[in-house]
Amino acid sequence: MRNRTFGRTGWSVSEIGYGMWGLAGWTGSDDAESIDSLRRAIELGCNFFDTAWGYGAGHSERILGRVVREHPERTLIAATKVPPKNFTWPSRRGFTLDDCFPPDHIREYAYKSLENLGLPAIDLLQFHVWEDAWAGDERWHRAVDDLKREGVVRAVGVSVNRWEPANVVETVRTGLIDAVQVIYNIFDQAPEDELFPLCRERNVAVIARVPFDEGTLTGTLTKETRWPEGDWRNTYFVPENLIASVDRAEALRPLVPEGMTLPELALRWILANPDVATVIPGMRKRAHVEANVAVSDGRPLDPALLQALRSHRWDRTPTSWSQ
Ligand SMILES: NC(=O)c1ccc[n+]([C@@H]2O[C@H](COP(=O)([O-])OP(=O)(O)OC[C@H]3O[C@@H](n4cnc5c(N)ncnc54)[C@H](OP(=O)(O)O)[C@@H]3O)[C@@H](O)[C@H]2O)c1
Repeated sequence: MRNRTFGRTGWSVSEIGYGMWGLAGWTGSDDAESIDSLRRAIELGCNFFDTAWGYGAGHSERILGRVVREHPERTLIAATKVPPKNFTWPSRRGFTLDDCFPPDHIREYAYKSLENLGLPAIDLLQFHVWEDAWAGDERWHRAVDDLKREGVVRAVGVSVNRWEPANVVETVRTGLIDAVQVIYNIFDQAPEDELFPLCRERNVAVIARVPFDEGTLTGTLTKETRWPEGDWRNTYFVPENLIASVDRAEALRPLVPEGMTLPELALRWILANPDVATVIPGMRKRAHVEANVAVSDGRPLDPALLQALRSHRWDRTPTSWSQ
């Protein structure tokens, strides 16, 4: 596993990190399988883990804490997120800081996450929705500053709403955040326009999330795919989205080099960008961990292929189903 520097924190993080939403919140999760997969990832050099209080009201955090505590000899980075006070994902224009992150709520959930993790500190505390209109509001500045001074939190980040990569740029300019988590994959290339150059200039770490477009870029979805009742993907992959997504994934197939899989291509494309500190595929299965970690071998994609993938950019705007 190769490592990269996590912005101005100076942390050395594995370029393949671990997305932990699926562990609590997607149907088909099994704690024993998740724990086995996490242990395998650690064995293979993974040291960056992204969870949230919102992933099963602390369940995913508790699993992470347990596995991190089993490895006192390793430096493992635990990133989690404060849920918005109104528990509405994503935030919408017009939501106020009081609706989502009043200071007492930030503190309350930082301490809840700390307890769930059972670790001495939260390495990275992220806001789980964001509106750039809040950038200048000193109340969150003070809240995160206090948590840092108290040693509860080591670094602070924003997890940007889906398909709104620029809805954080003023916040990055405040100099108060250490990391930005954003959707970045073969389709969602828009963070390259404004966000990445700014993060590079300010030495703010970029966490690339949703590398497989929630499943499309694994190549396993069909136009008939449905999930068990209650799985959020039924409400995200509505026919309008599923059909277009499958068509776009199919259009990529001829570009996948011999001996490579589509998920491998998806990860290699992200890692080709040095602005990314770590990419966090969601993983529950050991086989997925092993396949994804194996991508971190430093082998670059052919420049002509990288160029060809540029034309698969898909700019989308938030809709009623996008979440
Ligand atoms: N608002 C936010 O802050 C926010 C929103 C979304 C996501 N995130 C973070 O980003 C992470 C990644 O996003 P995501 O999990 O939503 O979506 P994703 O990474 O795009 O896709 C995850 C899916 O890909 C499958 N998969 C993983 N590796 C595979 C492989 N090698 N071959 C085939 N399938 C593979 C997983 O299966 P298994 O699970 O069965 O292994 C899972 O179904 C999340 O886990 C979470 O940490 C944050």
